[in-house]
Amino acid sequence: MDFEWWKKTVCYEIYPSSFQDSNGDGIGDIPGITSRLDYLASLGVGCIWVTPVYASPMKDNGYDVADFYKINPLYGTMEDMENLIAEADKRNIKIVMDLVFNHVSEESAWFQESKKSKDNPKSDWFIWRDKPNNWRGIFGGSAWKWCEERKQYYLHTFGDFQPDLNWENPEVRNALYDIANFWIQKGVGGFRMDAVVYIKKPADFADGKPDASDGMVLIHEMTANRDGILDYLHEFKKKVLDGKNVFTVGEANGIRPEELKHWVGSEGVFDMLFEFNHLQGGDIWYNPNLLSTLDLKKAIFQSEKATATNGWYPVFFENHDKPRSVNAYFPDSADKALASKALMTLLLTLRGTPFVYEGEEIGMSNVEWDSIDAYNELNSRSQYEMALQEGFSHEQAIGFVKALSRDNARTPMQWDSEFNAGFTTGKPWLPLNENFAQLNVATQEKDSNSPLAYFRKLVRLRKENPVLLQGTFTPILAEDPQIFAFRRSLDGKTVTVLVNLSEKDARYALSLLSGQKLLLSNEEAPTLGVLRPFEANLFE
Ligand code: GLC
Repeated sequence: MDFEWWKKTVCYEIYPSSFQDSNGDGIGDIPGITSRLDYLASLGVGCIWVTPVYASPMKDNGYDVADFYKINPLYGTMEDMENLIAEADKRNIKIVMDLVFNHVSEESAWFQESKKSKDNPKSDWFIWRDKPNNWRGIFGGSAWKWCEERKQYYLHTFGDFQPDLNWENPEVRNALYDIANFWIQKGVGGFRMDAVVYIKKPADFADGKPDASDGMVLIHEMTANRDGILDYLHEFKKKVLDGKNVFTVGEANGIRPEELKHWVGSEGVFDMLFEFNHLQGGDIWYNPNLLSTLDLKKAIFQSEKATATNGWYPVFFENHDKPRSVNAYFPDSADKALASKALMTLLLTLRGTPFVYEGEEIGMSNVEWDSIDAYNELNSRSQYEMALQEGFSHEQAIGFVKALSRDNARTPMQWDSEFNAGFTTGKPWLPLNENFAQLNVATQEKDSNSPLAYFRKLVRLRKENPVLLQGTFTPILAEDPQIFAFRRSLDGKTVTVLVNLSEKDARYALSLLSGQKLLLSNEEAPTLGVLRPFEANLFE
C-alpha cells in the first residue's frame, strides 16, 4: 500500500489573525507564524494548514479573496510567505494553502468586471439571474443580491460580499487551476479546498421547501454535492494535481460515508475529505445536532470503515469554524484538562491524518460573551437574529451563539500569562479568552502532566509505532455508551485504545486486554477493568 508522507504526519491548522502578531497591530501575521516554527516543530507536526492569507477586504477574515496572487498586507508580503515556506521546509514542515474556489470577494477584479454589464468579457464568470429564488445563504438572508449596475441578481452561498463563481464556464475553471499551479510552484505541500461541495449548482435553480418562518430554504439543501460536481473535480485533479507531490483535503459538509469512495481513493478526486458527520452543532444553531458518545462513535466508525482500504481519513475535532472541542463534546462540569487529553488520544490514535487546531494542544476553551455585539464573526450575528425571529428569547439566542460561535476558536493563541498572552504588544483584534493567565503554552511547558506534554507524548508514540500509522482499525465495545474503544493492528502487533468519554466510571471486561500491557494513560495509576471519568488508556 502507498504510504505517502501526509499519511504519517500530524497537521496543524493556523488561523493567521489569531496565532502570533509580530508588528504590534493586534493582528497575527506571517512573520509571527515563522517566529513560532520551532514551537511547531517541537510538537512534531509535519504540516501547517494556513487559512487564507491572500489579498482580501477581510469581511470573512480572508475567506473573501480579492487576489490569490497577492498576500494581504495585514499578514505581510509575498517575500514573508516565501520565507515561511523555506523556513518551514528546513524543519521538515510543509505549508498547506487554503483554496477558496467556490466564491471570491466582491472586490476582486473578476467581479468588478463581471458586474459592469451583461456583455463584458467576464459577464459569465458569476451566477447572474433576473429573479431570485427562495434560497437562504449560509450566513443568513437571501442568497441573492441585487446589483444596480448590471440590473441583475448574483448568487452568494455565503455572505453577500462573496459572489459565487460560475464553474460551468471553462475560463473560470482554468483561471482557478492556474492559481493552484502558481502555489505549487511556490513550494506548498498541499491544499485544503474550501466549501468545495457547493461549486456545482442545479440547472433549474428551483425554489425549495421553506425550512423556517422566513419562507426560505438553506442553500446547502439545494446546491451541496450536485450531480456533475465530480466531473469538475476530476478535471482539477488532472490539470493541477496529477504527478505533483501535494495532497488535498476537501471541506465537504454533508458528504455521507457511503459517498466517500467517489471523493477519495483510487476513483476519487482528493486525498482526504473533512466530512462533518461527527461534529456537534450543524448549520442551524437554534436547532443543533447534538451527538451522544454513541452517535460520535458510530459516525467515526463509519468513516473509518469507508476509508479502510481505499482513501484516507482526516481526523479532527476542531477547526476555525467550530467551538472548542472541550466545550462541544463535554458537559460544563467536566475536568477540561483531562477531557482534552481524552479527545487528543482519539485524535492521534484513530486511523488517519490528525488535524489539530491552534490551541487545541493546550485545551483552549470557549468564550462566554453575553452580548451579541461582542462577537466579531458574521455567522454569530445572523444566527442570533434568526433565533430571535423564530421566537427565542435573547437568553436562548445568545446561548446558541455561546455554544456554537466561530469566535470561540478564533480568540488569540494563549502563549503565556504575560501582557495579551504573548500574542501581541498592541490591542488584539478579538479579545483574549479570560482564562489565558492559567491556560497557556508557557505554563504547560513547565508541567509534565499538562495537556501539552501529553500531546507531545502521543505524537512521539505515533511516530515510534507504525501500528498507529498503518495498522488496521477494528472497533470494539461499539454499543458501549461511555467508552470509545478500538484496536489497531499491524504485523502481529496490536494496540488497544480505551477512552472513557463520560463523567462517570466506566467498566470493561478484562478479557478485552488478553495479556496486553499499558503503553500510555492520561491518569497516574490506572486500574485495569475500570476507566475513571475521561480516562484514556493505550495497551499493547
Ligand atoms: C468555509 C470556511 C469558513 C468560511 C466559508 C466561506 O466554510 O471554513 O471559515 O467562512 O467557507 O468561505
